[in-house]
Amino acid sequence: MSIKHFLTLQDFSTAELNQLMLRATELKKVQKSGEIFEPLKNKTLAMIFEKSSTRTRISFEIGMSQLGGHALFLSPRDTQLGRGEPIEDTAKVISSMADGIMIRTFGHDIVEKMAEHSQVPVINALTDDYHPCQLLADMQTYHEHRGSIEGKTVLWVGDGNNMCHSYINAAKQYGFKLRIASPEDYDPNPKMVEANREHVEIIRNPMDAAENVDLVVTDVWASMGQEEEQKKRERAFKDYQVNTALMQQANPDALFMHCLPAHRGEEVSAEVMDAKDSVVWDEAENRLHAQKALLEYLMADA
Ligand code: CP
Ligand code: NVA
Repeated sequence: MSIKHFLTLQDFSTAELNQLMLRATELKKVQKSGEIFEPLKNKTLAMIFEKSSTRTRISFEIGMSQLGGHALFLSPRDTQLGRGEPIEDTAKVISSMADGIMIRTFGHDIVEKMAEHSQVPVINALTDDYHPCQLLADMQTYHEHRGSIEGKTVLWVGDGNNMCHSYINAAKQYGFKLRIASPEDYDPNPKMVEANREHVEIIRNPMDAAENVDLVVTDVWASMGQEEEQKKRERAFKDYQVNTALMQQANPDALFMHCLPAHRGEEVSAEVMDAKDSVVWDEAENRLHAQKALLEYLMADA
């Protein structure tokens, strides 16, 4: 049987994604009840971080420990990856010992290469192009607060980045309409927009785009690796802040999400971050529960 990887949301069917979402909410209840559940006893997840992380590292590491297993933090600074050992060789070696590999890196081709040469499941924990683990948590959070997202309208405000691409994939997989309000020159990959025209539309003016939406999502203006563009991006994105005026265009029960870390006063106002419709803290916590469901699915013995 071929090994299952999770590199983008498209690696799973809609049925699998929905099943994972329900399982995540179940596992959340199990953990909150204090019950011990250890389906990954003696299993190890190797975690490669070529970029910084707070939520992803903590949620995968704690998730593995709650499931009875162990997580190993590997950075390029302390491994031979940083000294140029090829991804193919690294994948073979790590997967001969670990039971799963989680990787956060730059080019998406790196995670694809890792998966190609790995004997164990590979999980994409963010590349320049996608952040599928975040979407598992976002979809779970929406479901817990408002029920099914199918048929709803979601607004993405800001950069057509890795998170935006994963929202495009999610629109198809979970069956919602996605409006993208991005400034010119910062659109998502046009091929992805074209391939998903049925679900996705670009509307330049964020105030127009926000009318009657059910969920508003944004992300930083400069992602990891784009630090030197910060000033230029601040100018390009100045009219793309999620603030109270924008949220007032949305449906009265619309939620606000942000994968975090957030920059108050840039992509989101402090008022919106702390408003009652903001579910960013639940969203962050759900990284733990959603990924536990993913780890169980990929790594537990059948
Ligand atoms: N949202 C997210 O992936 O956060 P970290 O970069 O802190 O892992
Ligand atoms: N787009 C952001 C997401 C961080 C979780 C980045 O890539 O830095």
